[in-house]
Amino acid sequence: MFKSVLDGAERGPAVTVMVEGQEVEAWEDETVASLLLRHFGTARLTPVSQSPRAPYCMMGVCFDCLAVIDGKWSTQSCLEPVRAGMSIERQNGAREVEQ
Ligand code: FES
Repeated sequence: MFKSVLDGAERGPAVTVMVEGQEVEAWEDETVASLLLRHFGTARLTPVSQSPRAPYCMMGVCFDCLAVIDGKWSTQSCLEPVRAGMSIERQNGAREVEQ
């Protein structure tokens, strides 16, 4: 599993977020991708082969960090800072489209 470079360093205050229905401690302003790496090691499953993908570039280029954040599918989690009370889910498969 991954370890944050912020462990033991100066960082934002601790906040609680919901990750797949479970309360999880995070640091305000760390990225959601960082949180997903620490807790799961992956962010999503691909739509075709269901292969696991993990955040890779951490700068908005690879799209391997897509997650469902506050109900919004296909959000690049590496570009989303953690905020208290946010809801995060790993994105498994293709994005759901409203009919
Ligand atoms: S980790 Fe590459 S776009 Fe988010």
